[in-house]
Formats: sequence, C-alpha cells, structure tokens
Amino acid sequence: MEITLSVLKADIGSIGGHIQPSTALTEKVREIIQHKGRKQLIDSRVSWTGDDIAILMTHQQGVGATAIHEMAWEAFLAGTEVARSEGLYGAGQDLLADAFSGNVRGMGPGVAEMTFQERDAEPFVLFAADKTDPGAFNLPLYRAFADPMNTPGLLLSPALTEGFRFVIMDVAHTGKDRVIELEAPEDLYRIAALLRDPERYVVESIWSRHSGQQAVAASTSRLHNIAGKYTGKDDPVMLVRVQKDFPATGEILAPFSTGHFVAGGMRGSHNMPLMPVPLNAGTSYFDGPPIVTGAAFCVHEGKLTDPVDVFAHPFWDRVRDQVADKAMDMRQQGFFGAAMLPMDELEYTGITTTLDSLDERFRVRPNGPEPLRQAL
Ligand code: F6R
Ligand code: MG
Ligand code: MG
Repeated sequence: MEITLSVLKADIGSIGGHIQPSTALTEKVREIIQHKGRKQLIDSRVSWTGDDIAILMTHQQGVGATAIHEMAWEAFLAGTEVARSEGLYGAGQDLLADAFSGNVRGMGPGVAEMTFQERDAEPFVLFAADKTDPGAFNLPLYRAFADPMNTPGLLLSPALTEGFRFVIMDVAHTGKDRVIELEAPEDLYRIAALLRDPERYVVESIWSRHSGQQAVAASTSRLHNIAGKYTGKDDPVMLVRVQKDFPATGEILAPFSTGHFVAGGMRGSHNMPLMPVPLNAGTSYFDGPPIVTGAAFCVHEGKLTDPVDVFAHPFWDRVRDQVADKAMDMRQQGFFGAAMLPMDELEYTGITTTLDSLDERFRVRPNGPEPLRQAL
C-alpha cells in the first residue's frame, strides 16, 4: 500500500519562556487533528520537543496535500488560541501568514514528508530538534549514509554498498528552491564541501541508489528567510526510514552520540552542542542546550505503532553527561569567538544598532600613528 508520512511542526507558545508547551495546548492540537482527521487521515500522533509541537500524520493524499496542511494549520491556530488564553510565551510565534494559502511551506511551520510503498515491515524514526536549525542534521546524515566508519552496513550490505543520493538545498536562496543532487560515495568530497556549511546547505532528502526508494525527508525552512527578519528559530524535523536497504536504526542513532555543535542556542544566537533527550523533554540550561528527540515507529497500512523512545535507553545518560560538559565548556567563553554566531546568523539585530552607532565615532587618523595623549 502506498502511504504518505507527513510531519509538520511549529512553536505556537510555551510555558516559562521557550521551555515547553502546556498540556492544554498539546491536547487541543491533538483533539483538532483527531476530530478533523477522521476522514482525511489513517493515523496521527502529536508530540512536543522543547517548545515545538510536532504533528505526525499518515494518509494517502501525497506530499504537499492542501487538505492535510490546512488541517495542521488549523490545529496550530487552535493551539495558539489556547496559548493566548493561558498567557503562554510566544503564542503563535511560528505562524507567519495571516491566512492559509494552499500549503504551509513558506508560512512558518517546518515540514518533512515522504510517499512510499510500504514494505512488509516498515520501521522509521521521527527526529525533532529544538533551539537549532535544519543544518543540525547535516552531520548525522553524512555519517549515517556516507561514512563506513559509522555505518558498517555500507560495507556489509550489498544494497547499501551501491550508495545513496543526497538532495541538498541552498537555503540562502530566496524564491524557487535551489537544489543539487549528489551521489555517495563518488561525490563524497563534494557532499562534504557543501554540508560543512550547515547554515547555507541543508540535506532535504536522501534516496537509496539500489532501490530508488526515499530514506530521508527533512525540513529545510529558514524562518528569517521567510519573514525577512528575526522571528524565532527554525527548529527542524526529519523522517528516516531504517533497515533493509537503508541504514539500521542504530547506525542512524550513533552519530547523535557526538553532541556536535549546532547553531541556535540562547536567543537563537549561539553555538551549543546538540543533546539527545527523551521524548517530550523541555529545555533548561542557557535556554537549551539544543535538543533532539527520536521516536521510532512501525507503520502498517498507514496505522502507527506506539512510539519507542530511542534516546531513553541508559546509554544516552552518559552521552547527555558528556554533552552537558561540552555545553558548559563552551559557555566559559561567553560571547567570544565560536560561542556566538556570526552577525548574519544572529536572531537578534540589536547589536547592529550598537555597532552602527559606534561606526560614526570611528575616525581615520590622517597622519598615521599618533601619540596616545593626542588620541585621547
Ligand atoms: C527556539 C527558541 C529561540 C527563541 C529565541 C528568542 O525554540 O525558542 O530560538 O526564538 O530565544 O526568543 P525571544 O525573542 O522570545 O527572547
Ligand atoms: Mg521557541
Ligand atoms: Mg523551538
């Protein structure tokens, strides 16, 4: 049976700052999806990661279906009403358009979707991250799908040995999507040359070269590109099919043990390590650290199993301790150097006002170096 998995996520308000949504908000979104989805959907799950709500849906209307996107948009609007009534922080923050217009792409919420013929057993993982942006998935995807040091399946499984096609988007490009297709392993260095710049080049999808089947769909929206100004961070979601012609679940999870540094911590303006956390976890230290959750499912005829929380296993406690150490190490250097993002990636523009005002006070010495007393 051919089905579509759609996950749409948005920050529509949270308790105590950018920490986590309220139960009433989450329940409202769930209620709307269950009610309105009776005819349109086969199944759905609503979850949260930090301050973001993710709606996972299975259906047969394909990628970008208006009815599906509109339903999610209405659920986010209803959740926003609850957020407002409770005085939650950032109510409706990610809903950038006044009215729905056919597809939520470009309207604020993050979207990852794929359509495929269900295998007899169809395992997949839904990843959702908070306090970071879509480039956060570049490193784990490169390792899982292109690096045999991480993924022994690339050596051991003939299907995986044929490699994977990476579709990479230039997210700095405005207007129509600008994408490139590159093949691992032949294009490995070219893929690496792009993915090393995660604020500009982001993996949109990955495909098996053996079967032509899609393995990964990831959200690529950058809110500041949509709104033209700071509006919050584009906390991403990603769907990854696993096993058989794709990497094993554990091969996909392994790179998350690195706790790699990602953009988006504190005020969307700092580099911080990405911490894998249990499902429905909020944020805390330094409004973070940036977090990622993983919910593993099997889907059969569109019906979802209960999720398995892939980062709840005791192994990840050790990783979390190490990531916490990395986070505190980085915070030792405050705003200096690598701790804070470059100017064009800051969510806050206040510093440019300060720099502009200082600019007027700079002067060029007409006669080269002056004695200190004259300079004063
Ligand atoms: C992401 C997130 C942050 C905020 C940022 C600015 O979930 O919450 O990126 O958008 O901390 O928040 P304000 O402007 O509310 O201080
Ligand atoms: Mg937020
Ligand atoms: Mg968020």
